[in-house]
Amino acid sequence: MSVVRPQPPADPIHYDPSAVFATGGFASSDLAALAPRLDEARAETLADLARFGAGGARAGEALDPAFIDLPDRLLAAYHAARPTSELFAILGTARRLREAVDRIVVLGIGGSYMGTRALFEACCHPFHNELPRGERGGRPRLSFEGFNIDNDSAQGLLDLLRAPGHGGPPAADLLERWALVVVSKSGGTLETAVATRLFLAALAESVGHDRQLLAERLVPVTGKTGRLADLARAAGCPDVFDIPDGVGGRFSVFTAVGLLPAATVGIDVVRLLEGAAAMNRRFREAPAAENPVLQFVGVSHLAEERMGATIRVLSSWSNRLEAVGLWYDQLLSESLGKAGKGATPLTTVTTRDLHSRGQQHQEGRRDKLITNLLVGEPRRDPLILPPLGTFAANEDKLDDLVGRSWPDMLAAAAAGTNEAYASDKRPTADLVLPRIDEHTVGQLLQMLMLATVVEGRLVGTNPYGQPGVEAYKTLMMKRLRP
Ligand code: PA5
Repeated sequence: MSVVRPQPPADPIHYDPSAVFATGGFASSDLAALAPRLDEARAETLADLARFGAGGARAGEALDPAFIDLPDRLLAAYHAARPTSELFAILGTARRLREAVDRIVVLGIGGSYMGTRALFEACCHPFHNELPRGERGGRPRLSFEGFNIDNDSAQGLLDLLRAPGHGGPPAADLLERWALVVVSKSGGTLETAVATRLFLAALAESVGHDRQLLAERLVPVTGKTGRLADLARAAGCPDVFDIPDGVGGRFSVFTAVGLLPAATVGIDVVRLLEGAAAMNRRFREAPAAENPVLQFVGVSHLAEERMGATIRVLSSWSNRLEAVGLWYDQLLSESLGKAGKGATPLTTVTTRDLHSRGQQHQEGRRDKLITNLLVGEPRRDPLILPPLGTFAANEDKLDDLVGRSWPDMLAAAAAGTNEAYASDKRPTADLVLPRIDEHTVGQLLQMLMLATVVEGRLVGTNPYGQPGVEAYKTLMMKRLRP
């Protein structure tokens, strides 16, 4: 038997905008003509990183470009000095939690939870939480809260967390134990903070008010200073993870924010980072005409300018990538929706949403660019349409399709949809993942983060910071603390 483990695939993701050009809205030569400006925007993006490293942010300027080389830095430190590296610490805590509890509750909002959810839905079994622990490979369930102030959904999760003997001594059965990962960069976001109080009280009850156990089951992920950092100190938590300076919430998926919960549920975070680093290399090195980040930005920008496509539909052809789309919605909205500008992102899942939005996309207002998020091959064996059985004839009239596979039928739907849109000159581009795994998801998330900041630099919008979100917070607090 060979001791050499097969190399897992590392195929690149691929962006194809040819169907956009075919609409006549603009031509590939227009995109080529934009190359010098795209190159400049890339240079400015990378200069931001250098300027941040040199401590050169202007007074009052939001500047969070440290996400760019973060995957490369984390991997380099892990390979050079494993036991002292951040990644080693993340993996160690993930292992500790995995062995101690059967459910992790992640509290966080916006950038402090959407990336984790995207990783979970893309990379784990689609029914991970429903599987018995053995079939989860001994990994805990993952639940999310603190992203809203919804009374009944918080109550619902508390119902799940209360073991039969709650209120007594700490649960002896691992299947009844749970832990809390609280994520907030500022440490003061109200939704997450009030949920922290609520779930801490439940956690204290579940560990029989044992302070040591409570501290071990609470893992804060936060900025160096702030209320959550203070709380972590007061509670004596043995593991607290930092969200580094220069990495904003919506760009933090490759910090402990996303990596810690991902590692607890068995996602290969090293491969995720390798995928992201591979995208970084393409971004830095490939000329504009072959650069997926610059091509994606250029096409999105020209579609907005020349075709009035102010709505960007990310049409996922896999249920598993819907949460990636929702993560991207907040990334684009919060980064570029400023000063009366910025396209509106919209995530759809196809074919599901062809039955809710397809009509509008085919014949409605011409204000949309559709980017198909396509997946080359499924992770599992293809399902095949079976015969109806001996109890019936061909009543459902599907006999001619017997033997066709699910991937086959989905491919026909994708080709048919693209053809239908093309027939009415509706612009569609394809973003193709060879498969959904950690490497391709790492590439995809890094590509979308890079594209967002490059577009910001292209159109003169600072992609970092979200000053507009403060308005609701101030007015909400005025009511709570008149
Ligand atoms: O991108 C961002 O910065 C936001 O979406 C934040 O992540 C969100 O507002 C939560 O903030 P915090 O992590 O400080 O609780």
